Amino acid sequence: MEAREDLVESSGFGGTQRTDNWWTHPMVVLVGLSLFVLYGLFRTIYPVFVPEEMAGIYHESLLSPFYSPLLFADQAAHHVVFGQFPEWWPQLLRSPAILILWAPLGLRVTCYYYRKAYYRAFLQDPTACAVSEPRDDYKGETGLLLFQNVHRYFLYLGILFIAMLSFEALRAMFWNVPSGAPFWHGDVQIRVGTLVLMLNVFLLAGYTFGCHSLRYLIGGKKRCFSCPANPHNDEDGGAITKRYSLWKGVSKLNVNHAIWAWFSLFMVAFADFYVWMVSIGVWPDYAVIAF
Ligand code: FES
Repeated sequence: MEAREDLVESSGFGGTQRTDNWWTHPMVVLVGLSLFVLYGLFRTIYPVFVPEEMAGIYHESLLSPFYSPLLFADQAAHHVVFGQFPEWWPQLLRSPAILILWAPLGLRVTCYYYRKAYYRAFLQDPTACAVSEPRDDYKGETGLLLFQNVHRYFLYLGILFIAMLSFEALRAMFWNVPSGAPFWHGDVQIRVGTLVLMLNVFLLAGYTFGCHSLRYLIGGKKRCFSCPANPHNDEDGGAITKRYSLWKGVSKLNVNHAIWAWFSLFMVAFADFYVWMVSIGVWPDYAVIAF
């Protein structure tokens, strides 16, 4: 409260004695997240209104991360897990993205970094450190916002998605697969699309494995496992020491969690856009290395 009295002017939303450009970060967040949400919404419902071959869901061995895993699709693409949409499936819900995007979206919405970012940028709650808010009853994450505690469960789903996207990136190395044959019977080629999907997985993994919940999961409930003299370091055949190494790895990613969050967000949208453009012939998918 001392800081508030020292720096915040008593009246008016946005009042402060801060002289730096404190509003630039919330502004960038507002614009960046709004653009992503608009693009994501558009791509989620797009397949409902256009023929599947025009929807940009897949192109040969490439599968857009917006639709991965591809649970249902009306045409028999080799990425499909279950086949065609059931007859009774409502026409307005015939987008493979609707079935899966709630999981990565849940991870981002409940992410500790994004919470801070969108509370400030969209809800002005708080607006920024030592800046007056539009209301005077900040309650923190209480009431309905307690749902944010489900984050750790979305983390488990996020790790599962990393595994599935890695599989799709691996599959994107095999081309000209004979009809009905397993994908590894195709020609091995690294195309630009392969690299795009690989980079997407790399950035998503950097974001997911730097998660605060994962850090607590690995490092929690042990007493000072970083202390060399700690007798518990030999517990479970050195398990604490192994956990300490893991914890250090997660912590390294965690330090730059916001950066991983933004790069991976941009990349997942770009990877989808890339597959979409290749699939409708706007640009070719060049082979970089062919074996
Ligand atoms: S805190 Fe950001 S993904 Fe968990």
